Amino acid sequence: MTMFPSKPGPIGIFDSGYGGLTILHGIRQLLPQYDYLYLGDNARAPYGTRSFDVVYEFTRQAVTRLFEMGCHLVILGCNTASAKALRTIQEHDLPNLDPQRRVLGIIRPTAEVIGSLTHSRHVGIFATEGTIRSQSYNLEIHKFFPDIHVSGVACPFWVPLVEYNEADSPGADYFVKKRIDQLLRMDSEIDTIILGCTHYPLLLPKIHKYIPRGIRIISQGEYVADALQKYFHRHPDIEQRCTQGGEVHYLTTENPEKFKEQAQIFLHEPVEVENITLV
Ligand code: DGL
Repeated sequence: MTMFPSKPGPIGIFDSGYGGLTILHGIRQLLPQYDYLYLGDNARAPYGTRSFDVVYEFTRQAVTRLFEMGCHLVILGCNTASAKALRTIQEHDLPNLDPQRRVLGIIRPTAEVIGSLTHSRHVGIFATEGTIRSQSYNLEIHKFFPDIHVSGVACPFWVPLVEYNEADSPGADYFVKKRIDQLLRMDSEIDTIILGCTHYPLLLPKIHKYIPRGIRIISQGEYVADALQKYFHRHPDIEQRCTQGGEVHYLTTENPEKFKEQAQIFLHEPVEVENITLV
């Protein structure tokens, strides 16, 4: 078994890039008292179109690094990593790395509550190609609500629109409308849509522009935060291993200056960033 620092540490939040910042933001709104260590694998993003094996390997490296840096709890703040790597890491790697540490994903928290949000029992998912192909949302939702009809659409251009700061541009309208039309053609009874990619909340103004009235759009941040708070109540032993100083540190595998600039699109506040290499 690998030896990691035993003293309490920050909560690790991992994403392929910037998208997990929307999850971090949601968690900090509810749980500002904890320390957080955010890691964006920007040098190797996007993950959305990568294979299962590659996403798993990159995610395993990131989780191991966050453990080495003192985290006892790591949240995969990325749907693609949650869909493609979480289960293998939990079942296969954690027992060898350190069975006392925990890794959680972000798909289950939304799946758990969706039954109380939809009336028509028809739910839509917008996500990356990898997440849609994995069928993770369908599987998770059906564990809790087998009666809900789930339809998913991959939105390959949405992440670059956000990353290149084009979310508000007229060009974004075309790609947003196209996927909304596609989803509603698949199932016209949908009354609730989950934004199953952490970048997509930044496209909300455009999404609302084209979504028919009466359809509810769900961003994950608040549900992940709520689930984490409940998790801490159920697992005080893990909670006690998370330090409370209200501090956030950021790590990126890419250029820190670029991260700083881009992070402001997501967080609207200046951040200090350090570069690391994942192997
Ligand atoms: N953050 C990823 C997610 O939530 C999307 C970005 C990517 O493709 O790397 O799925």
